[in-house]
Amino acid sequence: MSGLEYERFADIYRVWTATAGSTHANLPFYVQAYLAAEGPVVELGVGDGRIAVEAARQGQHVIGVDLSPAMLALCRARATDAGVADRLTLLQGDFRSFALAEPAALIALPYHSIGHLTSLDAKRDAVRHIHAQLRPGGRFIFDDFLMTPERLDQMRRVQLRAEYDTPDGQHALLWVTSLIDDAAQTMRVVTWEDLLDDDGVMVRRRYRPLSLSWMTPAQAEGLLADAGFTVERCLGAFDGTPFRAATAEEQIWIARKDSAT
Ligand SMILES: C[S@@+](CC[C@H](N)C(=O)[O-])C[C@H]1O[C@@H](n2cnc3c(N)ncnc32)[C@H](O)[C@@H]1O
Repeated sequence: MSGLEYERFADIYRVWTATAGSTHANLPFYVQAYLAAEGPVVELGVGDGRIAVEAARQGQHVIGVDLSPAMLALCRARATDAGVADRLTLLQGDFRSFALAEPAALIALPYHSIGHLTSLDAKRDAVRHIHAQLRPGGRFIFDDFLMTPERLDQMRRVQLRAEYDTPDGQHALLWVTSLIDDAAQTMRVVTWEDLLDDDGVMVRRRYRPLSLSWMTPAQAEGLLADAGFTVERCLGAFDGTPFRAATAEEQIWIARKDSAT
């Protein structure tokens, strides 16, 4: 299960996000959404606080929910370093069962994280639970991969993701590839980190797999409708471009819980 997989992934998460395609674009998009919300803001899968701590730095209080104690510890440390620990409330919990003290104005689930629930039924449970945790008029914003044959081909390739020195001074190479089940719309993203000695000889290799999945836009729309959401907008990029299947880079859903539901 993904929350537990992150116990092993936590120590490379910063390198992972620093070298990812969409993190530079999704950061300002979500921070802006958090700052615009009037009322409690919740980030599900808050991770190391990459987004939440930046929003807190800019004045917003954020409630961060995550299953992984290691990721929550990173988030807490990041907030303390930034001097905004008092603007973050961290809860250990699952997307499908977290409990808030009061209904939220905004619940965000950024960076393809809904895909860590690898069945459509589990995602349906999460979206229904999120709907129940919002106040009337509250919004749910999330993004998912927009999978195309080209993207799948690219993810199947072995890529050298990063070269860096670990905190204890060892030289490291981080590699990644994905094992993909097209029919099930699931994948195992497999990373391996090679630690090298001064002669460039590998002294240790460590694997850290993550389980992920994706939805088609029709599946995402269906889950939102099933839970009672009204879709306000679907974007194809974090710069606000409306979704068009032929050109979209992502699927970014902005949904509202209607006052009457
Ligand atoms: C891709 S990271 C996203 C972190 C952060 N939102 C960001 O954008 O950098 C996904 C996070 O979701 C958490 N997670 C995975 N499955 C979860 C679940 N079922 N319930 C709660 N958190 C979960 C992981 O522990 C991880 O911290």
